[in-house]
Amino acid sequence: MEFWEKELETLPQDKLTRLQLDRLNLVIQSAVRSPYYRSLFSGNGDLESLRDIREVNGIPFTTKQHLRDHFPYGFLTLPRKELIRLHSSSGTTGNPTVVFHNRHDIDSWSNLMARSLFCAGVRDTDVFQNIVGYGLFTGGLGFQYGIERLGALSIPAGAGNSARQIKLMRDYGTTVIHAIPSYLARLYDVFLAEGVNPRTDTELRMLIIGAEPHTEAQRQRIQEMFGVKAYNSFGLSEMNGPGVAFECEYQNGLHIWEDAFLVEIVDPETLEPVPDGEYGELVMTTLDRQAMPLIRYRTRDITRILPGICPCGRTHRRIDRITGRTDDMFIIKGCNIYPMQVEGILLRVAEVGSDYVIRLETIDDQDEMIVEVEVKKDWFRGDLLFLDQLQKRLTHMIRDEVLVTPRVKLVEPGSIPKGEGKAVRVFDNRQN
Ligand code: COA
Ligand code: AMP
Ligand code: ZN
Repeated sequence: MEFWEKELETLPQDKLTRLQLDRLNLVIQSAVRSPYYRSLFSGNGDLESLRDIREVNGIPFTTKQHLRDHFPYGFLTLPRKELIRLHSSSGTTGNPTVVFHNRHDIDSWSNLMARSLFCAGVRDTDVFQNIVGYGLFTGGLGFQYGIERLGALSIPAGAGNSARQIKLMRDYGTTVIHAIPSYLARLYDVFLAEGVNPRTDTELRMLIIGAEPHTEAQRQRIQEMFGVKAYNSFGLSEMNGPGVAFECEYQNGLHIWEDAFLVEIVDPETLEPVPDGEYGELVMTTLDRQAMPLIRYRTRDITRILPGICPCGRTHRRIDRITGRTDDMFIIKGCNIYPMQVEGILLRVAEVGSDYVIRLETIDDQDEMIVEVEVKKDWFRGDLLFLDQLQKRLTHMIRDEVLVTPRVKLVEPGSIPKGEGKAVRVFDNRQN
């Protein structure tokens, strides 16, 4: 068995726990240099066990709302001149979520990414095409730095432009692709349309898929389309991005890098820990990030610790694939969206009524977001040109906010059925 960092990846459980505790104490000491954590605790005195984080010291959870409330610099432990990069969430309204990194953090993240890729089976002889958004998305640069650290040849292709993706693959003999699973179904259609068989006319030997929820059946379907194995990659921007948890060759859950992250799984209602094997919300603490450590961050992702050890020899525990969220965020085309973001836009437009609904559909193997919006009575009677302009205006405004182009449908006032109790705003009918 080959490893990227054998000693760390196969560290016996007791030594791994010791390393986590030492790192956690350092994190707590440095976190108090940030205005936010300084307001919560003093950082005096070391924790004696990992459990103390909740029992003795009772360190509270950190949430996305805290990040937004203390935007932009409230979580920084270092002066701004030490920082070298930020990644942030989308949106023109409200405060985005932003994470800052110093040189150490980028170095550590790149290493985790290289380790993750190696763990799935990528090698320095590979040609790696990264088909996700660059820029502020973490999947672009996050993978880029990991591929380079590993020493494979990177093709920073970015998202979209499917025909060109296929040409790049054929020109340079791409052996590994990273893309979101729903896009791969779309890419496969383009392969067929171009008369190219991905199984026989390319040198593809594996896929990395992630950044959005998918089932084992969806994975199987993708594997059949491309004739290679697809490995699950999990991460979130608040924990750097990709490189948090990754599947190894056994595809039996995702090794979560416990030297870099302290993992808790809690009941989302009681916030009490649940036993291994039971589903709950994933809560994470950074153990190796300097500029912006986060302590007990509620990811909102639902998963469980898979009991037992993995035959690959890595001792870092495995989490199951993400089965859902404890909030109403959804992901489409690799972009995270809260219904409130759409609502916030609609509220700014005088002609729009109070009701709307978001339908997520798969049309020609492409996921689409359809936003049905009630227009106020006086305006709905307006001329067609006016309605056409309103439709275009809303489309642009929503796209600027969520980065995905919605299909906006203007509908008559009163035509969206009102459910009882809390309105259901999102209907997910996607098939990919
Ligand atoms: N990854 C790669 N390409 C994607 C994609 C995704 N997640 N979602 C859509 N595309 C492709 C479409 O197939 C289309 O290409 P094609 O016409 O050559 O097939 C092209 O991007 C434009 O898509 P479209 O649906 O018309 O545009 P949009 O305005 O709704 O969305 C995107 C624009 C796709 C550029 C935007 O949603 C995006 O940047 N998504 C990528 C996010 C990402 O990579 N997240 C993961 C980070 S780890
Ligand atoms: P972002 O912060 O934009 O990177 O988005 C992170 C979120 O994407 C996570 O909190 C998950 O909800 C989702 N996500 C990322 N990777 C996966 C994956 N492999 N499976 C399911 N959901 C994922
Ligand atoms: Zn393994």
